Amino acid sequence: MAILVTGGAGYIGSHTVMELLAQGEKVVVVDNLRTGHRSAVSPEARFYEGDIRDRGFLDRVFGENDIEAVIHFAASSLVGESVQQPLAYYDNNLFGTHSLVGAMEAHGVRKIVFSSTAATYGEPERVPIEESAPTRPESPYGETKLAMENMFRWCDRAFGLKFVSLRYFNACGAHPDGTIGEDHKPESHLIPIILQVPLGERDHIGIFGDDYPTEDGTCVRDYIHVMDLANAHYLALNYLRAGHPSDVFNLGNGTGFSVKQVIELARGVTGHPIPAAVSPRRAGDPAVLIASSEKAKSKLGWKPRYDDLGTIIGTAWKWHQSHPNGYAD
Ligand code: UFG
Repeated sequence: MAILVTGGAGYIGSHTVMELLAQGEKVVVVDNLRTGHRSAVSPEARFYEGDIRDRGFLDRVFGENDIEAVIHFAASSLVGESVQQPLAYYDNNLFGTHSLVGAMEAHGVRKIVFSSTAATYGEPERVPIEESAPTRPESPYGETKLAMENMFRWCDRAFGLKFVSLRYFNACGAHPDGTIGEDHKPESHLIPIILQVPLGERDHIGIFGDDYPTEDGTCVRDYIHVMDLANAHYLALNYLRAGHPSDVFNLGNGTGFSVKQVIELARGVTGHPIPAAVSPRRAGDPAVLIASSEKAKSKLGWKPRYDDLGTIIGTAWKWHQSHPNGYAD
């Protein structure tokens, strides 16, 4: 039987495909390649280009493959864009998931591991954030991800759909072999933007606000390596295979780094001075986001292997140095 990975040509999806293959799983990938990259998908996986909102397409994929479970990444994932285009997020994220779960119900597939986000919490009352914290998303992105989780919950009650929802904090880094990594166009994430400076693609990094209530005034985030996220999906799959009930888990390292600290670490990794300049705050950025991942550690047996941010940035640097134009190289 095979694992269907939706959005398997995207950043976290493609790393999860590599992890599943390394664990000996058979993998089928669907991706509409709107933001994903065909060459990010290992040739060992069976690839279908198409959109999960197209039910006929999904019926063909489920009909041609013996699918045991789904790992669901296919979604739009930019907080700022979602505020500008809420309906596009409801369409791609919520309607897309509706179509996918409908196909799963029709084809008798009852296990799904879901790519969720810290954005489901919104501005936290306290850190580290536990899964029991209130969910008050502050963007259509976070809102649609939370609605997708709730859709699974009701479908569990109605027809026994078992789900694990993984709420990640700041995904970063690249596969240690340097063959796949992060490639968003346009790029909005901190670490790849910092690395554009030593690559000669920009002359400095802009720090979005230094007047936050943190030690150095810049935002604090919990950075987690993409291969540790990938491994968590595999563990979540086995958790469902073992017959455990549906559940939600945070994934982070439990340590916060400020924007200034991340830049300083990147200077050490690259040996480049990386000039920085403070610019205005970016709308919607919470001051501090740090995960409590104790539940994932105790229940899934998850243990992040990359707990050193310098090493994590090193894996990203290896990828960007060898692929300065991303998958276009
Ligand atoms: N930042 C800068 N300069 C930049 C880019 C980012 O200072 O050029 C700062 C941001 O203001 C933020 C931090 O770096 O404080 C990290 O920003 P990212 O854009 O890399 O990541 P976010 O924390 O905004 O986003 C992450 C995930 C989202 C998720 C969100 C939850 O990427 O998917 O956390 O709030 F929704």
